[in-house]
Amino acid sequence: MATTSSSSDEAKKKEEGKKKKQALGWIEWLRGWFNLIYEMLFQRIMASHLQNPMPLPPVNDLTCIVTGSTSGIGREIARQLAESGAHVIMAVRNPKAAYELIQKWQNEWSGMGLPLNIEVMELDLLSLDSVVRFANAWNARLGPLHVLINNAGIFSIGEPQKFSKDGYEEHMQVNHLAPALLSVLLLQSLIKGSPSRIVNVNSTIHHVGFVDPEDMNVVCRGRKYTSLVGYSSSKLAQVMFSSVLHKRLPAETGISVLCVSPGIVQTNVARDLPKIVQTGYRLIPYFIFNAQEGSRSSLFAATDPQVSEYCELLKSDDWPVCAFISQDCRPTNPSEEAHNVQTSYEVWEKTLQMIGLPSDAVERLIEGDEVPCRYGAEEGN
Ligand SMILES: NC(=O)c1ccc[n+]([C@@H]2O[C@H](COP(=O)([O-])OP(=O)(O)OC[C@H]3O[C@@H](n4cnc5c(N)ncnc54)[C@H](OP(=O)(O)O)[C@@H]3O)[C@@H](O)[C@H]2O)c1
Repeated sequence: MATTSSSSDEAKKKEEGKKKKQALGWIEWLRGWFNLIYEMLFQRIMASHLQNPMPLPPVNDLTCIVTGSTSGIGREIARQLAESGAHVIMAVRNPKAAYELIQKWQNEWSGMGLPLNIEVMELDLLSLDSVVRFANAWNARLGPLHVLINNAGIFSIGEPQKFSKDGYEEHMQVNHLAPALLSVLLLQSLIKGSPSRIVNVNSTIHHVGFVDPEDMNVVCRGRKYTSLVGYSSSKLAQVMFSSVLHKRLPAETGISVLCVSPGIVQTNVARDLPKIVQTGYRLIPYFIFNAQEGSRSSLFAATDPQVSEYCELLKSDDWPVCAFISQDCRPTNPSEEAHNVQTSYEVWEKTLQMIGLPSDAVERLIEGDEVPCRYGAEEGN
């Protein structure tokens, strides 16, 4: 009897495996590209109601961690938050560059108010040990955290597939896995700072992304790796993980989880493009945002008073995805694939495995328990 049922289970699994979606459908894929091109052509018109720089509500009481704040959008986010009175922690892989920036900003700011309350902590997202070290150092302060902005990201356009020392495809690690680990490890500090927010700087490119939870590294035969596949999958994985995190955090924790699109922005993200394409990129400033314009949706998501209410509403409606804010600071819907609840849960489970956390890590952290992580072992974790 047992043999019959186990063989029928296997047959069922095989059948499910056969039916498993292998890629985006043509229509979804075309719709994804349409969304991207539409954003590129019309972002300036759609965002014409926004001021630049965007005035922020009072942020004097906020402590904000901004990853990747030595360049591009993150640099603008950090500067504007600090100039508006927030306590800002620049979480960066190159602390020297961050100290130089702080020196420059303090000089420009002198005479305009109190010195900027801004500091630097080292964080290299290509090393999960570094993420654990950062989180341990932050949590040891026992202070509240109000806003975590997962901004740092890479898009190694045209480059061959590369893997981190942790063994993960680099886009997936920097854009999704490491920020996911950071967000989970900082939950107790975010609860102390509640109402608090996790803002993930995502991209409209997630609309052309596809994630196979069994092949997050895109190494299986039959799936051809390109940097676009690596980047778009990592951004979709981030939306899916954020949607499950948003659901797993009870309203009482007071933590809102959001993804944002900054728009198409002229930054160092295009540093790997051929020189001629980079020149073309600079010649079309009408279409492309500068970094200050590109920082608006993240700043909005981090500070607008109505954002938490909106996130709560989505939670109480049991909406399948987390809040997604577009480049014009309006709520929008992420891609159709991001609404795939089963894949989102599989991405959640797989991500926790990959970042070395138990599957009930979030629930245990909310209870105030210590949770072991496979990484950061030299720190005694
Ligand atoms: N620009 C766009 O059109 C666009 C569109 C959609 C989404 N985005 C997203 O916006 C975010 C910011 O990108 P950006 O356009 O401002 O690009 P950027 O100018 O290249 O800035 C990226 C930042 O991430 C940091 N970073 C990269 N790898 C890191 C690592 N291993 N550990 C720690 N920090 C690391 C970089 O540090 P260094 O300064 O040391 O290099 C830099 O500060 C990214 O998540 C990107 O995917 C950008």
